[in-house]
Amino acid sequence: MIAIIGAMDGEIAEFLAVLEGKKEEKWTDFTFYVGRIEGRDVIVVKSGVGKVMAALVAQHVIEVYKPDAIIFTGLAGGLNSELEIGDILVAEDCVQHDLNAISLGFQRGEVPYSPYRFLGCDKALLDLALKYKPESGKVKKGRILTGDQFITNRTLKSLQYLYDDLAGDAVEMEGAAVGLVATVNKVPFLLARIISDRADTYAHIDFASFLPKASRISLSLIQHILRGFA
Ligand code: ADE
Repeated sequence: MIAIIGAMDGEIAEFLAVLEGKKEEKWTDFTFYVGRIEGRDVIVVKSGVGKVMAALVAQHVIEVYKPDAIIFTGLAGGLNSELEIGDILVAEDCVQHDLNAISLGFQRGEVPYSPYRFLGCDKALLDLALKYKPESGKVKKGRILTGDQFITNRTLKSLQYLYDDLAGDAVEMEGAAVGLVATVNKVPFLLARIISDRADTYAHIDFASFLPKASRISLSLIQHILRGFA
């Protein structure tokens, strides 16, 4: 069983549309859709936005459904100027960019008193994702930065750390939270995002106009992964 998690309805809609033998299971406010895509058992769930929502849903999925892997997908704001809207960015690793205990002597993004900072994605899943040939746009690997902020001005001096300290390629709001839960639980994890905006002053407009097509691109990438996953 592979778990597919997205933060918003638009980020999972196309997965639900193709889910065969769909059954719904509830846990508090969350609905877990169990079924098959490409002949593989999957569970699809909307976590809601932000690190806490994503982490608690990921932990629940691991405990109840014992997935062989977790794939988190959805939109991201591009930081790397090589990334264009509609491109796919697959995380080689991810980190919580807003975790800051620097004054205690820790590095930005480091979970204090733990081994966790940059959270690596599963190599086999990453290699599979990088073989995907999209109809348009490109697939790149990189570093995804996660924080509880929607970033609309990446050029601000106060956000320079996204580049200087963390060398990020894109920002979003859930990936590294799920990455941390998956790492602690030793579950293979992949984070694959579609670039919806450039984390600039137009970000909220670009994001909203891209959201309806968000899961179309993720779905064909993840169908490719499901066909190849051993
Ligand atoms: N997800 C998509 N675009 C984003 C942005 N600009 N900031 C944070 N999360 C995002």
